[in-house]
Amino acid sequence: MSDVDVAELPAFPFLSPRAQPFVPVGEPDLARLDGPVTRVRLPFGGWAWLVTRHADVRALLRAPGLSSNPYRPGFPVLNPIPPEQESAAGAFIYLDGVEHSRLRKMLLPEFMLRNIRRIEPLIEQTVVDALERMRAAGPPADLISSFALPVTSMTICHLLGVPYAEHERFQRQSLAIMDRASGPAEINAALGDLGALLFELIQAKRVEPGDDLLSRLTVDYVVPGELGVEELLGIGMLLLIAGHETTANMIGLSVLALLEHPEHLAALRDDPERAPDLVEELLRYLTVVRAGLPRLALEDIEIGGQRIRAGEGVVAMLPLANRDPAVFPDGDRLDPGRADVHQHLAFGFGVHQCIGQPLARAELRIALVELARRLPDLRCAVPAGEVPWRPNAVTFGLAELPVTWATRPAPPGSDDAARAGDAGADRAGRR
Ligand code: HEM
Repeated sequence: MSDVDVAELPAFPFLSPRAQPFVPVGEPDLARLDGPVTRVRLPFGGWAWLVTRHADVRALLRAPGLSSNPYRPGFPVLNPIPPEQESAAGAFIYLDGVEHSRLRKMLLPEFMLRNIRRIEPLIEQTVVDALERMRAAGPPADLISSFALPVTSMTICHLLGVPYAEHERFQRQSLAIMDRASGPAEINAALGDLGALLFELIQAKRVEPGDDLLSRLTVDYVVPGELGVEELLGIGMLLLIAGHETTANMIGLSVLALLEHPEHLAALRDDPERAPDLVEELLRYLTVVRAGLPRLALEDIEIGGQRIRAGEGVVAMLPLANRDPAVFPDGDRLDPGRADVHQHLAFGFGVHQCIGQPLARAELRIALVELARRLPDLRCAVPAGEVPWRPNAVTFGLAELPVTWATRPAPPGSDDAARAGDAGADRAGRR
C-alpha cells in the first residue's frame, strides 16, 4: 500500500459532465481508469479499488468477508458519516453478518410484493392527486417539488405510519443528511430531529398501534423485548430517508429522460403494459446510486484477476456495471426493448440488495403511466442541459425540473373535471 502515490490517482466520486445528466462518468475520467479493477483517490483521504465490470461487481457484492460498516478503520468513506451513535444502531444498511440479517428479516415481510400490492391504490391516488393539483394550478411547474417528492414522501409516510403533516420536516432533514456538503454538526442536528420525531411516534404507537410498519415492529418486536427502541429508531430513519429520496430522484430523472425521448413516452401512453420493462431500463440507464457501493475487505479476495487484500477499501461502481457492453450492448442508449435488462444492478446485489425495490418499482410504474396519460403534452420548460441537478447529493438527482404543458379545460362533467375538483378538496382538507 505504501508504494501507491495517492495524489496521482483519479479523484473519486466522479461527477457527470456539465449539462449531461445521463452520462454517469465523463470521457476524461473514463480515460484515467487503467483497468476494470483500478485504484481511485477517495474524497476524505486514502484510496480504494474501483470495480467496474458487471460480472466483477456481482462477484464482489456476493463475496463473504466484506464489511458495509463505515465506522471500521480503513472503510472507504464516500460521504460524510455522522459520529457513531446509539440511535442509528438499527440502520442495518451499515451492519454485517448476523447483526444485519436479524434486522433485515424483521422487515422482509413488509416489503413482499403482496403487501406492496395492498398499498398500490394509495400510491395511485397520491399520484393522481399530485398531477391534478399541478394541472389545476396551471403551467409552469417544478416537477420535483410538485410531483416526485410529494408522491414518494406520502407513500413512505403511509407505509411507516408517519403523519404526512411531518413531510416537510423529514424532507428537509434527509436532504441535509444526503448532502456531501453537509458538515458533521448539520448531519447530527438533522438526525437528532428525525430521531425525536420517530421516538414520539413510537411511544404513541405502543399505546395505540395502527395498521402500519412502525406499529407492527413495535408490537411484534419492541414490546416482547426482541428489538430495542433505539434500533427501531435507526430502522425508521433509514426507511424514511432511503424510502423517498432515491425514488424521488428516479422519478425526476425518468421524466427528464422521457421528455428527451418522446417516442418512449408516446409508446407508454398507447400501451401502459410496457411500463415494467421501461422502468427496468430507466433504473439501469439512470443508476441513481452513481458513486456506487463502498465496502471494506476483511479478508483477501480476488476480483477480476486483481488481489484485494484484507484492510483495503473497494467500491462496486454500479453505473459502469450497468453500462458494461458484455451485458448491455450500446448501454449509453435508452432502449426499453433491451434483452437482459433485468440483469441491471441499480438496486445492488447480494445480502444488502435493496429491500424497498418492489415499492420503488410500483411507485415508478404508477407515476410514469399516469403522467403519460394525464399530461400528454408535457415538455421541459428549459433546454435539458440547463436543468439544475444536485452535484453534492449522495444519490444523483435533479434540484428542479421546470416543466410546462398546453392547458385545455377538461370538458364539464368529465372524469378529469371531477378528479380535479376532488384534488382541490383533498388539498384543502390536508392543510
Ligand atoms: C429507485 C429507488 C431505489 C434505489 C435505486 C435503491 C437503491 C439501493 C441500493 C443500491 C441498495 C444497496 C446498498 C448496499 O448494498 O450497500 C439499497 C439498499 C436499501 N434500500 Fe433501496 N433503493 C431504492 C428505493 C428504496 C425504497 C423505496 C426503500 C424503502 C422504503 C429502500 C430501502 C432500502 C434499505 C432499507 C436498504 C438496505 C438493505 C440492507 O442493507 O439489507 N430503498 N437500495
